[in-house]
Amino acid sequence: MGVEDNFQSWLSGVPYELAFWNNLYRWDRTFDGVLNCWSRLGREIQLEGMDARQFLSAYDSPVVLDVGCGMTFANGDMLRTAQGLKKLNVRYIDPLAVFYREIKHRHHRDVPDVEFGMMENLTVTVEPNTATLVIIQNALDHSAHPLQGVLSALDALHVGGCLYLHHHPNEAETEHYKGFHKFNICLNDRNQFVIWNKEERIIVDDVIAPFATIESHTFDNGYIVSLLRKTAPLNPPLPKPSAECLEVMQMLSGQRPMGRSFSATLKFKLRYGWYNAIQFFVQALSYEDRMRLRRLLYRS
Ligand SMILES: C[S@@+](CC[C@H](N)C(=O)[O-])C[C@H]1O[C@@H](n2cnc3c(N)ncnc32)[C@H](O)[C@@H]1O
Repeated sequence: MGVEDNFQSWLSGVPYELAFWNNLYRWDRTFDGVLNCWSRLGREIQLEGMDARQFLSAYDSPVVLDVGCGMTFANGDMLRTAQGLKKLNVRYIDPLAVFYREIKHRHHRDVPDVEFGMMENLTVTVEPNTATLVIIQNALDHSAHPLQGVLSALDALHVGGCLYLHHHPNEAETEHYKGFHKFNICLNDRNQFVIWNKEERIIVDDVIAPFATIESHTFDNGYIVSLLRKTAPLNPPLPKPSAECLEVMQMLSGQRPMGRSFSATLKFKLRYGWYNAIQFFVQALSYEDRMRLRRLLYRS
C-alpha cells in the first residue's frame, strides 16, 4: 500500500472517531468520566515509565506537545517545583481539532482548545527543533503513517528532547483493523519497537539509530512505553508532505470538503450520521452494559 492510499483509507476512520467523542461529550455521565478518570487538567504531569518531572525540570521553558491528544487531556499540564506547581506550556494537537472544537462548544464543555496538526507532518504546524517533550499516547497506531509520525515528532524536538510513546500492544489485531486501527505496535524478542500490519513490518530502532536512542518496556498492565531521545538533527531532512497528505490536511482544517467528490462528501456525512446514532445509544449505556454488548457482538 502506498503512502497516498494510506491517507485516503485513514480518512474513512474519521466518522467513527468523531461520533465517539461527540457522544462521550454529550452525556454528563460519560463527560464526568473523562474529567474524573482520564483527564489530569490542572494537575502534575505524570507519564507511566518516565520521570517527567526530573526530565522537564532541567529546562527553563520546556515545550510539551501532546500529539493525537483526542479530548482526554490525560497527562497533566503542571510541573512540580520547589515553589509549588507551575503551569507547563502544553500544546494539544490533533488532526480532528476543528471538529473537536465544534463538539466542545456544542455540548458547552469547558476544556482547552486543541490545535490542528497531523503527526506525519508535525513540522508543518510546529517549528522544527523546538519541542522538549512530545507525547504520543494511544495515537501512533491510529495514524496513516506511524513511522512518518515518529520521524516528524523527532524533527519537532530539539537535541536532547524526548519522544514518549505509550500504547496498547497489537491494537489493530484486537480491533479487527476497523476505523483508525490499521497498524499494530509490539516489542520483538530483542525488545525492539516494531510497527506492523498484514503488509509491512518496520523495526523503528534501526531507522532512528542515526539521530535518536530508544528504550522500550512492556509493563505488567500490558502497555508498551518507549522513550526516544534525540541525539542529532534529522539528516537528510524530512521530505515535504506529499500532495495527498496536504489534501487531507486541507480537508480536516476546513479548507475543502471532506471528500474528493460530491458523492465522497455525502458518504462521509452518511457514515458519520450512522456511527453517531450508534454511539448515541452505546455511550448512554453503563460501562458494564457496554462490555456485555461488546462480548455479545464479538461472540456472534
Ligand atoms: C484513542 S485517541 C487517544 C487520545 C489520547 N492521546 C489518549 O491517550 O487518551 C486517538 C487520537 O489519535 C488521533 N490521531 C489519529 N491519527 C492521527 C495522526 N495522523 N496524527 C495525530 N493524531 C492522530 C485521533 O484523531 C484521536 O484523537
